[in-house]
Amino acid sequence: MSKLVKVQEEGDSLSESELFSMVVLLIVAGHERTVNLIGNGLLTLLKNPEKIEELRHNPELLDAAVEELLRYESPVSMDSRFVVENHIYKGFHFGEGDLLLLSLGSANRDPDVFKNPDQVNFHRESNKHLAFGKGIHYCLGALLARMEGKTALEHFIEELPAISFKEPQQEIDWREILLFRGMKSLPLVSKNS
Ligand code: HEM
Repeated sequence: MSKLVKVQEEGDSLSESELFSMVVLLIVAGHERTVNLIGNGLLTLLKNPEKIEELRHNPELLDAAVEELLRYESPVSMDSRFVVENHIYKGFHFGEGDLLLLSLGSANRDPDVFKNPDQVNFHRESNKHLAFGKGIHYCLGALLARMEGKTALEHFIEELPAISFKEPQQEIDWREILLFRGMKSLPLVSKNS
């Protein structure tokens, strides 16, 4: 961000509004969603300790694990589109200009698409989840986010067996926001500390 500010101050190649939108994009798209991928991923693994062992003994599953964690607790729970022309689909009327809220989290648990969708499975034959959206607006940072998720998992995986929830019946403190799925906090304790 400092480098972007410097570019804006030193020349005319980046306008103030371009700088502003780039900074918002880096924080919202580039940072927060990845934080939620890692946080939600940790939560899912701690709730399914046998998956931690599976990953520790089979690190070649890390890529598949990132995809499954993206599917299982999708960091972006809602996407949106505007209807461009009036039409009827499956008996529903869609009017031009209507805003559609599309639940990616729900689509990613669709039993018609995913076998046993409420189970975490690093061996799915096909994992065509919608965590990064679909079509021309498909997430530009998907590759980076996948790398970050995998790097975080690689670092955590050896520590995780020693980590547990602070309280045995820990209440999960989800953020009350419709569009994103992420926790306010996840209190943990480590046997090693
Ligand atoms: C786990 C992390 C991330 C998730 C789950 C995620 C998810 C998404 C989703 C669902 C969309 C909307 C796609 C659509 O409407 O079809 C999107 C768009 C976008 N994402 Fe990400 N994202 C993540 C990380 C990132 C990162 C790290 C960056 C950049 C550094 C980024 C940049 C963008 C941009 C620029 C768009 C807009 C693309 C467009 O409208 O053409 N995202 N992302």
